[in-house]
Amino acid sequence: MAADVIEVRPAEESDRRFLALLFAAVAGERDGIAAEPPIDVDRLAANWQLDGTLVALVADEIVGELRVEPNWFGFGEIGMMVAADWRGRGVGTALVVAAIEWARANGLHKLTLSVFPHNTAAIALYRKTGFVEEGRRVKQIRRSSGELWDLVEMGLLL
Ligand SMILES: CC(C)(COP(=O)(O)OP(=O)(O)OC[C@H]1O[C@@H](n2cnc3c(N)ncnc32)[C@H](O)[C@@H]1OP(=O)(O)O)[C@@H](O)C(=O)NCCC(=O)NCCS
Repeated sequence: MAADVIEVRPAEESDRRFLALLFAAVAGERDGIAAEPPIDVDRLAANWQLDGTLVALVADEIVGELRVEPNWFGFGEIGMMVAADWRGRGVGTALVVAAIEWARANGLHKLTLSVFPHNTAAIALYRKTGFVEEGRRVKQIRRSSGELWDLVEMGLLL
């Protein structure tokens, strides 16, 4: 079978609702990202910061997104997700590679991120693309269940 052709491009106005729906679906998994339901999809779509957001498409369908949040100090914090049906097929890798290019082109000196320690797929993806572990924030995130989850901090010097 031919490999999926993955296109990565900057997010556009018409992507807002798809981005918010993807975010709500992944939040509903209560596993990989910090956000949990309920997600106000309309509000999220309206407020989504398109600048710095990259979308991955297969056959014109959005299957993943990555957002770089640059700040005054020269680094950018990233957050990302891939639709559940599309994981393990290179979409995440394509997004991170594109984000590194975007960050360099925009003059950033570093990319950083936070990831739950149990998120082995994400940690493998970040290591594979050059990120290294820089520390751990203990019991940082309170879940709706009441559990307190650590965060692993990772960074990539550009
Ligand atoms: C983390 C996530 C973005 C990875 O995206 P993806 O499209 O599945 O990633 P890829 O297919 O490009 O895989 C990248 C690497 O991750 C590793 N990997 C992928 N799936 C894995 C799994 N289930 N278990 C362990 N490692 C895995 C592999 O090393 C893979 O590289 P390889 O194919 O060259 O061996 C995706 O799983 C996701 O969206 N999860 C839910 C949201 C989330 O956790 N976001 C990140 C928050 S920090």
